[in-house]
Amino acid sequence: MSINLKTDTKNFLHDNPALYSAFNGDYHQSMAKFMHKLLTEYNGGKKVLDIGSGLGREVAYLNSVEYEATGLDNSKEMFSWAKEHYPDSPFVFGDQVDFSLNEKEGQRWLSEDLLDQTVFEDMVVTLKTRFSIDLASQMLERSYSCSVTGYEPILEHVRHRLFFPQELVHYLSNSGFRLLQLFDQPSPHVKKYSLHTPLAFSTDMQGTRMQVVAQAI
Ligand SMILES: C[S@@+](CC[C@H](N)C(=O)[O-])C[C@H]1O[C@@H](n2cnc3c(N)ncnc32)[C@H](O)[C@@H]1O
Repeated sequence: MSINLKTDTKNFLHDNPALYSAFNGDYHQSMAKFMHKLLTEYNGGKKVLDIGSGLGREVAYLNSVEYEATGLDNSKEMFSWAKEHYPDSPFVFGDQVDFSLNEKEGQRWLSEDLLDQTVFEDMVVTLKTRFSIDLASQMLERSYSCSVTGYEPILEHVRHRLFFPQELVHYLSNSGFRLLQLFDQPSPHVKKYSLHTPLAFSTDMQGTRMQVVAQAI
């Protein structure tokens, strides 16, 4: 009798998923349920990237309870196992230090031209924007091209310095301000805000704009 095991490996258990599963049975989906609990408790949203997703059980469970979970693993065997056992869930083969999800959403605004159109004085005006980020210098670069039929396109390049929240707080306090609120919701720049809506601030910082209320002291 012989056992079907891969022995020439960098990590024996990770490259033998069936054996890994025999040692690490999780028949009650405890880990996946715990992840679900944490994500709910800490308001982590619905998008999950499970780095080192192994057999793929957690990714599959999370997707079954309406997350958008993707697994990433750098073991070909684990990756193949997960895809075979959970064909309805997305898995990516790759290393956590250097991977691509090939996912357009999220990064879309950084990798594609954004097109916006409006009618202004009876003319259709098209605004094409391309963003990029210079990470080392924390600069958001915007290239605009604004076109109206019959006119030369107007091209513009703008650079914005990006601040991390606590970096901004630091500058404020060094300049004699007390921070009252730092928030991303309400977001009247993108959503309708009515005076009757109770003022409830959210600090999720997943929104499109960081807003600050500070008081001079
Ligand atoms: C201990 S297993 C955990 C699997 C699963 N998350 C679980 O709890 O059952 C660790 C997993 O991480 C993967 N892994 C290790 N280093 C990795 C790396 N640098 N990038 C992506 N995956 C990695 C391994 O192949 C393995 O499947």
